[in-house]
Amino acid sequence: MVTQEQIIEALKKVVSPDLIREMKIAGGTVNLTVAPSAPVEQIRSAVSKVPGVMLVNLMTGERTGSSAAPRYVVAVASGKGGVGKTTTSVNVAVALARDGARVGLMDADMYGPNVPLMMGLEQLPALKDGKIVPAENFGVKVMSMGFLTKPGEAVIWRGPMLHGAVNKFLKEVLWGELDYLIVDLPPGTGDVQLSLAQVISLSGALVVTTPQDVALQDVQRAVAMFEKVKVPVLGVVENMSGFACSHCGKVTDIFDKGGGVRAAEAFKVPFLGEVPLVPEVRAGSDSGHPLVLTHPDSPAAQAFTRVARGLAAQLSILSAGQGAPAQTVWKV
Ligand SMILES: Nc1ncnc2c1ncn2[C@@H]1O[C@H](COP(=O)(O)OP(=O)(O)OP(=O)(O)O)[C@@H](O)[C@H]1O
Ligand SMILES: [Mg+2]
Repeated sequence: MVTQEQIIEALKKVVSPDLIREMKIAGGTVNLTVAPSAPVEQIRSAVSKVPGVMLVNLMTGERTGSSAAPRYVVAVASGKGGVGKTTTSVNVAVALARDGARVGLMDADMYGPNVPLMMGLEQLPALKDGKIVPAENFGVKVMSMGFLTKPGEAVIWRGPMLHGAVNKFLKEVLWGELDYLIVDLPPGTGDVQLSLAQVISLSGALVVTTPQDVALQDVQRAVAMFEKVKVPVLGVVENMSGFACSHCGKVTDIFDKGGGVRAAEAFKVPFLGEVPLVPEVRAGSDSGHPLVLTHPDSPAAQAFTRVARGLAAQLSILSAGQGAPAQTVWKV
């Protein structure tokens, strides 16, 4: 068991104690907030040498509460586009908030930011003391590039600019205390996604796929990407599962069946459920009224709610496990 005294002893050798703002120890994980002027690398190295320390999460900042780190940061990703990442992000975020959690939703799709529309948000975020106050709806705080560009305007950015924008969304947005920050990633598993996964210190990832056989390949790409950056995959969701005819009730497997389960089994990650293909999901997304609120008892809304709760459960299991981060903080 690592103790606070041990960490303070180690820190004293490299830094003045008044530069340490906050410390939380969970098993072998040490979460530290230090003043922006503190020698971060020396601190990291000193703390990681303390016997029993397995992981050091370092964050710079003042203890203002405004730049407080969320407890968990979860990326929603997919091997290819259009599978329902944003729809899932929105419904999961709203479901978590409805369950009483403090939730943020960050749209990391800088080129095609759909979150504002699906969250029914139009207003521009306000500025306070030079920082951005996130927009809010349905109990979820939201930040998106969509607030800063005109509809239909194309954003053409290169890698470093994307990094900068994501960093700003993390550090210059007044998220306040959050239990979950859901990050809606752009489609695919290329360099952009990989670098985003590295910029953001993620607790885990949710992979969305569709029922086809090719889901196996798509999920594999996403799993491989997160493996590369050592981010645990918390689960796979199969979206657009069988279409239930609203007239006769007959279920048609338009995109085949079971790709998500097969992929989850193949890559040994939890399967968190299947969301049916129903017009109400699309209508809810287009109108900015997430289905989990408008039709909470519908099968699709219940599926999203199960995904949200499964995700929360996986995060708890993970943080209770050996050395897993109990709290995620920004990388410095
Ligand atoms: N279960 C569903 N039933 C019906 N329509 C759905 C379902 N899931 C998503 N859709 C619709 O499919 C379209 C694509 O969904 P969404 O934008 O969430 O995908 P995405 O993976 O975020 O796409 P992109 O890769 O472009 O970011 C949207 O019009 C959405 O409303
Ligand atoms: Mg999207």
